[in-house]
Amino acid sequence: MCGIVGFTGRREASPVLLEGLRRLEYRGYDSAGLITGTGNELHLRKKAGRLAELTKAVAAHPAPGCYGISHTRWATHGGATDRNAHPHLDGTNTIAVVHNGVIENFAPLKHQLRSAGVQFRSDTDTEVLAHLIGHYYVGDLVAAVRQALTLVKGTYGIAVMSRAEPGLIVGARLGSPLVLGVGDGGTFLASDANALAGYADKVVYLSDRQLCVLNGDDWELRAQDLSPVTASVHDIAHFLADGDAEKGEFPHFMLKEIYEQPETLANAMRGRLDDADSTAHFGGLNLSPQQLRQIDRVILTACGTSYHAGLVGEYLFEELARMPVEVEYASEFRYRNPPMDRGTVVLAVTQSGETADTLAALRESKRMGHTTLAICNTVGSTIAREADGGVYLHAGPEIGVASTKAFTSQVAVMTMLAVYFGRTRHLSSIQGQRIIEELRALPDVVRRTLGCHDHVKRVAAKYADARNVLYLGRQYLYPAALEGALKLKEISYIHAEGYPAAEMKHGPIALVDESTPSVFLVPRGNVFDKVMSNMQEIKARGGPVIAIASEGDAEVAAVADDVIPIPDVPEYLQPIVVAIPLQLLAYEIALLCGCDVDKPRNLAKSVTVE
Ligand code: F6R
Repeated sequence: MCGIVGFTGRREASPVLLEGLRRLEYRGYDSAGLITGTGNELHLRKKAGRLAELTKAVAAHPAPGCYGISHTRWATHGGATDRNAHPHLDGTNTIAVVHNGVIENFAPLKHQLRSAGVQFRSDTDTEVLAHLIGHYYVGDLVAAVRQALTLVKGTYGIAVMSRAEPGLIVGARLGSPLVLGVGDGGTFLASDANALAGYADKVVYLSDRQLCVLNGDDWELRAQDLSPVTASVHDIAHFLADGDAEKGEFPHFMLKEIYEQPETLANAMRGRLDDADSTAHFGGLNLSPQQLRQIDRVILTACGTSYHAGLVGEYLFEELARMPVEVEYASEFRYRNPPMDRGTVVLAVTQSGETADTLAALRESKRMGHTTLAICNTVGSTIAREADGGVYLHAGPEIGVASTKAFTSQVAVMTMLAVYFGRTRHLSSIQGQRIIEELRALPDVVRRTLGCHDHVKRVAAKYADARNVLYLGRQYLYPAALEGALKLKEISYIHAEGYPAAEMKHGPIALVDESTPSVFLVPRGNVFDKVMSNMQEIKARGGPVIAIASEGDAEVAAVADDVIPIPDVPEYLQPIVVAIPLQLLAYEIALLCGCDVDKPRNLAKSVTVE
């Protein structure tokens, strides 16, 4: 959730660190800090608040030196204050540490250190690590880091330096991502390869319990016992395009990412639609047709928006592949012990590929001997590397904290997977071909759907002062309603609930009054008449209705207070098309509420703590 950037080489470190942090600010933005070294002197700057505060502090008091480490924080232990910002130092101000993750046994360790006379300067779990490393330090930072880590329970991605070993940076990971970069005038360390675009040409992903040692142009990878490890080096250009991490002409990343969806959907499908066999195919699933045929149950596991995509996946797999599917919150699934037989495949859905709960669910399933697959956006991420097989979204980096383009691509990939599985079962080639053609038309349909933006703006202006909003849909559009509500609440802080429309009368309809608008997802389809009745129930109780409906639908217009028109598509594609006005509505309302849509309060991208 936090961001780490380190650099050692032949240029000033602080501009590299600040630029790297800028690109990672979406991962954590309640405070930031850096430390650089010259000779045996360290220069520490840290500030609560956004990165701009740190940038100002460094401009006022430059931090010289050609090596350094830095951090943007998302608070876990201790409030967002200057004092709690990273880096943290040991008692002799020799060792500096930045840390992502959580040291779970920090309380007993802190108690022991205090009993030995150590004075703490912050409320963080990380400071414990700085003192522990300091305790073991006798001139060999690598050895001291290794020894300190043997005492630690929890998760970490860390970067450490010592003023007694100028130029040296040690990194280590367990459960929190870390990537080493090799390039322009030195070596780099980061929690996310995005920070290194334009600086590093090559990257090496650390695995859990590995350490890395950087010094100028030299670097090496070590196992936990410090034995050397042969690194697999990847070309960074392979997965980061220039400008991906920039907003371009858009005022926010979120809006840019909403508008990218025609392209990202096309990328998700590129090379995967197979007209000859009326199916889809995937390079990385690593399943033979025989293995595929033996799968008799799919468990989809994910968090947040990816969980909602998984819920759409349940409908898709059931309808198109006639397969039993369950969808589980990864945070629950990881601690349950559900009976799973041999034919069960566990499919993790994740944009970042680093979500701690999803990773743990995947590992637990692997440990039990199940085949694990991943639908993932981030190339080289931990889940992408650890799953037995998977499908990349190819949506490019998603920087806005609210997930948008990843959701629609996840659903598109699951549609293709359902066709692929279905074609080994009951789905006829005619049905397969029809779906392929409908999928192929989807990017253009989504481009046309973006034309609803002006309608959405008008609706947003009318309802931006609502304090509660309901999102209602049925069948494929029930998960879409959950996702619409999540988008609104996370970026505008307006309370929103998604519900299956017919469930309202079993309780939540009590919430309906003139000040509580309901967003109805009601394009034409099998349950259209049913949803219309549900809409009437809300109208009868004085609730304002915003309908997202098929273009030109007079029946809906006669009942709803406001209509946002969308093009008609088959029902199984409606969650993708409906997502566009839902994302835009949340965006426009959040703007009117004066919220920072790309960096909503209390949130950060990529939840790498439990
Ligand atoms: C909401 C959002 C989160 C993520 C969730 C899972 O807009 O972005 O709910 O969907 O934290 O993240 P990934 O998909 O990276 O596993």
